Amino acid sequence: MTTMPSLAVEATAPARTSAPEHLVVSGATKRFGAVTVLDDLSISVAKGEFVSLLGPSGCGKTTLLRCVAGLLRLDRGRILVAGAEITRLPAHKRNIGVVFQNYALFPHLTVAENLGFGLRAQGVSRAEAAPRVAEALALVRMTEHADKPVTALSGGQQQRVAVARALAVRPSLLLLDEPFSALDRKLREVMQVELKHLLREVGITAIFVTHDQEEALVVSDRIAVMNAGRIEQLADPATLYGRPASLYVLDFVGQSTRLTGQVMESAEGEVTVDTPLGRVRAPGLFLSGSQVVVAVRPEAMMLDGVAAGMPPSAGINRLTTRIREVSFLGSRTLLHLEVPDSGTTVNRALIELPRLPEGASPGNPVTVAFRAADTMVFPAS
Ligand SMILES: Nc1ncnc2c1ncn2[C@@H]1O[C@H](COP(=O)(O)OP(=O)(O)OP(=O)(O)O)[C@@H](O)[C@H]1O
Ligand SMILES: [Mg+2]
Repeated sequence: MTTMPSLAVEATAPARTSAPEHLVVSGATKRFGAVTVLDDLSISVAKGEFVSLLGPSGCGKTTLLRCVAGLLRLDRGRILVAGAEITRLPAHKRNIGVVFQNYALFPHLTVAENLGFGLRAQGVSRAEAAPRVAEALALVRMTEHADKPVTALSGGQQQRVAVARALAVRPSLLLLDEPFSALDRKLREVMQVELKHLLREVGITAIFVTHDQEEALVVSDRIAVMNAGRIEQLADPATLYGRPASLYVLDFVGQSTRLTGQVMESAEGEVTVDTPLGRVRAPGLFLSGSQVVVAVRPEAMMLDGVAAGMPPSAGINRLTTRIREVSFLGSRTLLHLEVPDSGTTVNRALIELPRLPEGASPGNPVTVAFRAADTMVFPAS
């Protein structure tokens, strides 16, 4: 028997420990001239936690990081690390490690000298610095490159040196601003897993900025989705993907079928929505007549052949349409389905399959099925 794909929200959601809050930002506001870039933003990060800031260009990710690092001063709000207020502390007294997008390594120094520089700036003696440099280089597996000029390293190696340099000062918090953006896709994927492993090993609290949602899903304990200087949702990857708090988060994280519609019936925590592809039932509390958007993740949708064995009582939605386009992605195939034009840009339908079924070509009719329980409903904006 075929098992239903499930979003498995309940099973995987609470990965959080009861570790005490290590970083607390509350009511942070930052303006540049008339523009409010951070808008009364609050976030708490637990000790040892790896949190990503995810959001479109210009939403304030770098600004928040720079405020925490002490490179910018907040207009309002407070920042605490390990219970101590650092809001007005200068950057060099915060003991926060920063890895920038461009690594900001000193090109005329060797790898080891780059690490030693930061330590000596902190007042660490030469004798004490040497073993700490060696330890940090061992952590990122760069020991054999210690005496090379950084200009002789590949992008990935330079990236490791930048992380090692930030870790060598034993910061109480590590901030990383799009550290992989200069790397090609393959290397990025390797570095993401490496970094996650390394930070867990070191046990350091870290904030990682990215605008790549896949990267955020891979590396993070929790992800903060930012929207115009605020945090729209802060949750672990499975919750963020399976239970996005808003259409904005749904749209930003992962792909989905989205259909606008009107609530026809609302009873016992379930709504029936009239969409351009037919009636859809979903868990939710909306008044009859409300305009909503129903959404389903592509892997929660099945071709009806698979769903045929499901009893009707299982709460299965079925929609019939035609295939518009087929995207072969190697390990999976996306079918883009036709949605009658209803005058909005929201509507679209996708189904993800492990392999291309026979007869699945553009123009052919198709019936898809998905569980009501896997269907999300949002108020139409
Ligand atoms: N020093 C500054 N002076 C004036 N405006 C600034 C300054 N720094 C940032 N901004 C503006 O603040 C907004 C947020 O910038 P920020 O760099 O925090 O965005 P971001 O989320 O990091 O974007 P990206 O993904 O492109 O890096 C932008 O509109 C930017 O132009
Ligand atoms: Mg930025």
